[in-house]
Amino acid sequence: SWTMLNIVEDSIESVRRQVGDGRAICALSGGVDSAVAGAIVQRAIGDRLTCVFVDHGLLRKGEAEQVERDFVAATGVKLVVVDAADRFLKALEGVTDPEEKRKIIGREFIRVFEDEQRAIMADGPVEFLVQGTLYPDVVESGGGTGTANIKSHHNVGGLPEDLQFTLVEPLRALFKDEVRRAGEELGLPSAMVWRQPFPGPGLGIRIVGEVTRDRLALLREADAIAREELSRAGLDRSIWQCPVVLLADVRSVGVQGDGRTYGHPVVLRPVTSEDAMTADWARVPYDVLSRISTRITNEVREVNRVVLDVTSKPPGTIEWE
Ligand code: XMP
Repeated sequence: SWTMLNIVEDSIESVRRQVGDGRAICALSGGVDSAVAGAIVQRAIGDRLTCVFVDHGLLRKGEAEQVERDFVAATGVKLVVVDAADRFLKALEGVTDPEEKRKIIGREFIRVFEDEQRAIMADGPVEFLVQGTLYPDVVESGGGTGTANIKSHHNVGGLPEDLQFTLVEPLRALFKDEVRRAGEELGLPSAMVWRQPFPGPGLGIRIVGEVTRDRLALLREADAIAREELSRAGLDRSIWQCPVVLLADVRSVGVQGDGRTYGHPVVLRPVTSEDAMTADWARVPYDVLSRISTRITNEVREVNRVVLDVTSKPPGTIEWE
């Protein structure tokens, strides 16, 4: 729209003024905020922006490709991809405690990002760090700006506090729906623009139990089926998000194909919400649930049961971990 076009252009112009001849880096998460922030800064300063995408191996099916291929094609952004899945999996070995998982994933993310940052700075100084901070985040954190006011509680983008960067925050005046409109204006892939909330630690906190490569592969397939069927039913915008959770330490008896199985359950956790602070379980039509259940148990070996979480928040959180 006309006004959104103006907002985007003003924002590009003010980034240009702020950064001058400097260089910037931006960590992409696969989500809409960092993507739109990165795209705006790219328009402003071109190749003096380097985006870094740390693939921690905990993303859902297709999400890494969306960043590496579709986002780059749409924006022309200079991107460094770090395939760090092995490193994250190694660090997560034997870990089952949810907060411990978060801590490890956050710590590894910072280490990998710092290594990349050093490599990028070998070509010359980088003064600016791009952050996809939105207006509600600004309000929540007291409105401060500057060098180190980085909210690390949730996003894997919680970056090291001792980095001496000046922040570039092109989304500081925007609400989420405006960020999405800006993303459309910028021609970003619609799967990114409309992606529902997804936690920084990714599938790592959707496996109850230890995170392993095999379990991730199972969960990735089950999740992709659920997302596909929910989308096909036109429920993407009415459902806030639908975590699919693998209960990796639980087994139950089933009968699939020729015989008895002893597999794992997955939990569907569709919720409606305004802001994730409270949520209600979403009344997904039975026929949609039925299709998801049938497909997951047919197509995902080792999953022989699909269960539905009908708990509101509170008392249940949206995620299981
Ligand atoms: P809960 O589970 O606390 O989730 O009801 C509220 C919202 O936050 C997301 N979430 C996270 N996002 N890092 C994130 O970036 C995290 O560690 C994390 N934990 C929960 C969750 O998906 C929901 O949208």
